[in-house]
Amino acid sequence: MSVKTMHTAEVRELLEKVAGLNQDAGDARVKAIVHRVMHDIFQTIEDLDVTPQEFWSAVYYINELGQNGEAALLAPGLGMDRYLDIRMDAEDAQAGLHGGTPRTIEGPLYVAGAPLSEGFARMDDGSEGGESMILTGQVTDEQGNPLANAIVDIWHANLKGAYSYFDQSQSDYNLRRRIKTDSQGRYVARSIIPCGYGCPPDGATQKLLNQLGRHGNRPAHIHYFVCAPGHKHLTTQINLAGDPYTFDDFAFATRDELVVQAQRIEDPSEAAAYDIQGPFTRVEFNVQLVSTDKPQLQVRHERNRALETDAV
Ligand code: DHB
Ligand code: FE
Repeated sequence: MSVKTMHTAEVRELLEKVAGLNQDAGDARVKAIVHRVMHDIFQTIEDLDVTPQEFWSAVYYINELGQNGEAALLAPGLGMDRYLDIRMDAEDAQAGLHGGTPRTIEGPLYVAGAPLSEGFARMDDGSEGGESMILTGQVTDEQGNPLANAIVDIWHANLKGAYSYFDQSQSDYNLRRRIKTDSQGRYVARSIIPCGYGCPPDGATQKLLNQLGRHGNRPAHIHYFVCAPGHKHLTTQINLAGDPYTFDDFAFATRDELVVQAQRIEDPSEAAAYDIQGPFTRVEFNVQLVSTDKPQLQVRHERNRALETDAV
């Protein structure tokens, strides 16, 4: 069966009423988006001859996704976060805002309000063992001038690929810190090398990925927000080189410039300088921020984030 009804007045009028286009009340922008989205869904049903069975399984899938709070987990897997980045990159290019460290997706697992310290922070609570990591770098402007007092907000997963707050077994703000850069624009974090992240194996996100023949894994990665007055807020991540998923990230967040080679340090005197026993791994990530006088570009965009209040 392959019937065509999208062109009929009946369907056109239905869509207009669905989106409230014949009502004065409501929000014009929401109406325009709903009208377009519903049109495109109807069109998909027509073009692909979607059966009622397929349609209802999709509806109940959305219920399941919401029940588990996984909608924002699925979005990166479907390339939506990456697509928004592609658009923001194109907008920057159009506005002549070139250069600086590339952005990549925020992901759904940020928690606002991590402890803030100056120059240095220890991020792990010492409960897990694992390979000690010294994560360090310099924040500069485009000319290479150090940016003192920049805020480097870092978060990453533990050895199981899980994030504190979302994983209630971890202590509050474990592996989450904000560090203010020193007079040379430098930050130093002591933490543990994170493991890669995998979508909850029995969750709704993974269920759809299975139907697409895809895995739900991310390489070991470390998230960053970096901001400094007079500069564009940066949302980015680094991916550790050598992970099997470095170039096969289900969330499409890897960018060549953001793949970082970790360095194993065996010299005990270097370890002692950080109060670490035994060898450790050093990861360096320097950040270049682009200057802007537009206040709205100096802060992260609004989004529903855990524990976020008005203060950013
Ligand atoms: C997802 C998880 C992450 O840790 C991340 O950085 C991005 C996306 C996810 O589950 O979709
Ligand atoms: Fe992540």
